[in-house]
Amino acid sequence: MITRRDMLLASGGIVISGGMLQHSTSGAAEPKQLIYHSTAPDNAEPHLNDLVKSWITPTKHFYVRSHAPNPVIDPDNFQLKIEGMVNRPSSLSLKSLKRFKTHSTTATLTCAGNRRSEYNEEGKVGGVQWQAGAIGNATWQGVALADVLAEAEVMPDAKYVWFEGLDQIEKGGGIIPFGGSIPIAKAMIKNGAAAPLLADRMNDAILTADHGFPLRTVVPGYIGARSVKWLGRIVVSDRPSPNHYVATAYKIVKNTAPISWAESGPIYRYPINAAICTPAADAKVAAGQIELTGYVLPSGRPESKVKQVLVSTNQGKRWTEATMTGKDSEFCWQLWKAQVKVTSDTKRLMVRALDTSGGFMPYRVPWNAKGYLQNSWFQLPVQVS
Ligand code: MTE
Repeated sequence: MITRRDMLLASGGIVISGGMLQHSTSGAAEPKQLIYHSTAPDNAEPHLNDLVKSWITPTKHFYVRSHAPNPVIDPDNFQLKIEGMVNRPSSLSLKSLKRFKTHSTTATLTCAGNRRSEYNEEGKVGGVQWQAGAIGNATWQGVALADVLAEAEVMPDAKYVWFEGLDQIEKGGGIIPFGGSIPIAKAMIKNGAAAPLLADRMNDAILTADHGFPLRTVVPGYIGARSVKWLGRIVVSDRPSPNHYVATAYKIVKNTAPISWAESGPIYRYPINAAICTPAADAKVAAGQIELTGYVLPSGRPESKVKQVLVSTNQGKRWTEATMTGKDSEFCWQLWKAQVKVTSDTKRLMVRALDTSGGFMPYRVPWNAKGYLQNSWFQLPVQVS
């Protein structure tokens, strides 16, 4: 899995005494080219024109969403703990994970807060003010979570698998790790595009510090919050994780009263979404024929594919069908382009999409207090001269 060369690359080549690796903020061999909303914790998204340059998002253009500064983890002493409702609890080093079969999966990650800033028109939402760039499509290599769980012998009454990161997040006057959990039926998928991975590589290179070095989960079809970075502990249970990021955050609520959190379930799958990535917002364009490009992500249901991407230059009076330019692959986005005519009456460009599992982008998404799952028709103001 991880070689010494990989470790040096991930650490930016810095090794401090005792073999402990120190990671720079970016941690990558190639510096990030992102718009930073914050650093330490790093929260950053690419310029949209960079995002649609290739179907696989290069790591330098892949968004970063972290709730705490990157933890410094010594890969030589790293142990992944497997606990809870298993007959054989264990603690696995990176080396011992090598005995499991390696899988390679291409999957899109997207933050539940992608496009959050659009909710502000209706009512201010807190949190990272994401535009439409909190999404990316990468190839992930690692071992199947199901294989590791099979060796631990999951008990028959188990219903959920919890993930816990090694990061330290200041919350409510204390320090907590980031946590996620997924239903056992999803966790036990062994093969194919839907199988969750314990990944140590992204785009054929060792994970960078900001993407979870040395190990993270990748849960295809689910919101990014379930793909836990810096994974340190897996717990098999008969209930969802009590961690704040499952029990409270990452839920759709109208207000933040305790009863609202209690009555709302955790979000798992992401819904269909699409955005126009070129031209840029408020760009000056000449009247006539122009090309629009963007991305579309079908909803994270098994076998859900893009059915149709439609663009409009006249507030939805007429729609033009876009052409797909990327690969058609389960749990992955598609890139698209469309030729449209703009006139001096064109104030906004719009995109909406449909998928084969019945998913569609609504005209408007009801406001929610945390600003999640914004997937209304994407509208881009332009200035036509
Ligand atoms: N895992 C840990 N340990 N800590 C985090 O803050 N953020 C989550 C998830 N995993 C997070 C985490 C969220 S909200 C998202 S959207 C994805 O990581 C982002 O993954 P990326 O930074 O590799 O793009």
